[in-house]
Amino acid sequence: MEDPATLLALAERALQHLQQGTTDSAAAPMHMPLLAYQDPERYAAERERLFKRLPLALALSLELPEVGDYKALTVIETPVLISRGDDGRVRAFLNVCRHRGAQVCADGCASARVFSCPYHAWVYDRQGALVGRYGEDTFGDVDEASLGLRELPCAERAGLIWVMLTPSAEPSTPAMDIDAWLGEFAAQLATLELDSWHLYEQRSLPGPGWKITMDGYLEAYHHALVHKDTVGQHTVGNLLVLDTFGPHQRLTFGRKSLSTLATQDKSQWQPGEHIRLIHSGFPNLSISGILGGFCLVSQIYPGPTPDTTTTVQSILTANEPATAAEKKAAQDFSAMVLKAVQTEDYGIGFSIQGGMQSGANQAFIFGRNEPAVQNYHRTIERLMNQDHNEL
Ligand code: FES
Ligand SMILES: [Fe+2]
Repeated sequence: MEDPATLLALAERALQHLQQGTTDSAAAPMHMPLLAYQDPERYAAERERLFKRLPLALALSLELPEVGDYKALTVIETPVLISRGDDGRVRAFLNVCRHRGAQVCADGCASARVFSCPYHAWVYDRQGALVGRYGEDTFGDVDEASLGLRELPCAERAGLIWVMLTPSAEPSTPAMDIDAWLGEFAAQLATLELDSWHLYEQRSLPGPGWKITMDGYLEAYHHALVHKDTVGQHTVGNLLVLDTFGPHQRLTFGRKSLSTLATQDKSQWQPGEHIRLIHSGFPNLSISGILGGFCLVSQIYPGPTPDTTTTVQSILTANEPATAAEKKAAQDFSAMVLKAVQTEDYGIGFSIQGGMQSGANQAFIFGRNEPAVQNYHRTIERLMNQDHNEL
């Protein structure tokens, strides 16, 4: 958890907002043309710049904790293999055979000594090197040293595995400086101690377009209404305490119990019980502590068209549920966030998309009370106007 002084300061700010009926705010409302959501050319450029040339958190360290563990996944039409090598380091590769391009390893998490291609049994080790070819003598000589799996820039920080989806070998690939990219946000993420949690459940959800989806993760304005039967029961609506770390943001919401702090001496406060922190990593990561002992990690991947996304939702529990009561609590939490996101958030998102062609709006308006949404769109614009080789 965050250090006690930080939590206390966040709870103080949240309580003050609650008492005054205020929230952290931007200077003014901001207009965002609908074209930013719809234009296919712009979408293609943004996918390339923001999703293929920035570090993305593709995995949790706890998904592949041991030497030989791997995770294979396909994101943004790119098959990726993340492997923890004999030296304990994680590496990422394009999960594409160097012979004739078959996917080497089926998507999923497991452990392997080597990766053998299902087409003609070319074999790669955990470090991605080509170490064997079936019928080698009949095939003929090739330069095996240069035919390892194509490596992607990869680094492990704060319990997350960050990968850039453009191969390191391409001359146009920017170097991935993960520490520069995360800046002070790395220390914020580290307070979550993500590698000490238990992965209870993981699922993929189809969602509306990337920006509509992300907008919903970045404000508390809709909570009382949309989530009144789920997460909204635990959260104060339209109250946001916002801190930014370069392109990344930490959102603090008040829990419904926040008002009780007003009646207690500060020395008695347990601030972490009355606020809820969401760590939002640009461009597609959201880590949300909705209830104590549970954590929701969401990775939002843009789909092939501007109106599609896939969200990977991971439900973490502080410990592996052991008793019947713990199992029920975990199941209830998982069911609640599934409903909150799939039915409630994405239900609204699809309805927004359904009305986009109607001509009612030329632009959306982000209120002063939606500063994190404003920041997100400003970051998109800033990065799109920057040189491709800068992070
Ligand atoms: S495509 Fe992999 S061995 Fe032929
Ligand atoms: Fe929501």
